[in-house]
Amino acid sequence: MSASETVRIDDLSFIQFIPAEQIAQRVAAMALDIDKKLLGKEPVFLGILNGCFIFMADLVRHCNCEHEVKFIKLSSYEGTGSTGKVISEGKLSESLKGRHVLLVEDIIDSGLTIKWITEKLQSLGVASITVATLLLKPDAIEYPVQIDYVGFEIPNNFVVGYGLDYNGKGRNLKSIYTLVE
Ligand code: IMP
Ligand code: MG
Repeated sequence: MSASETVRIDDLSFIQFIPAEQIAQRVAAMALDIDKKLLGKEPVFLGILNGCFIFMADLVRHCNCEHEVKFIKLSSYEGTGSTGKVISEGKLSESLKGRHVLLVEDIIDSGLTIKWITEKLQSLGVASITVATLLLKPDAIEYPVQIDYVGFEIPNNFVVGYGLDYNGKGRNLKSIYTLVE
């Protein structure tokens, strides 16, 4: 195995799981589908920071529909596990009222974050909510959430890279890596 296929972050080792080229192809295909649905609706792409920043940057460059980009910073994870609580830094803009919103997530695990933000957007009175996530852990879902676009369904293991972190590190990795137990 070549050195680039495994990485060490703090106390944990990770092995390459989804190569960068495969991510790029999938993101481009997702953008085509999203374009078809949202063309003419002037949607707001609302990214959930921090993890979504690389996915958002790649996704928007493949989308031709006219859209705005906004972000909100939410966190529910500490180390490699969910805290069961969503913490928000900043408020959702009132200007989202009446707009078609595309939520852009790096990963959906328990579904808590998406449930939380969906309820906030509904109470603001948005016109519609569409959810796009690069990764989904179907076996980890605990909250019923509507998910419209999924890049990859993955097993219930901790992953890093392409924007996702462990203890704030590993976001810069071009591929996605999974924890070696
Ligand atoms: P949920 O609220 O349980 O669905 O978790 C969603 C958030 O937890 C994501 O936006 C990530 O920030 C974080 N998260 C969940 N699973 C992972 C993982 O495997 N690696 C890194 N972050 C994760
Ligand atoms: Mg996230």
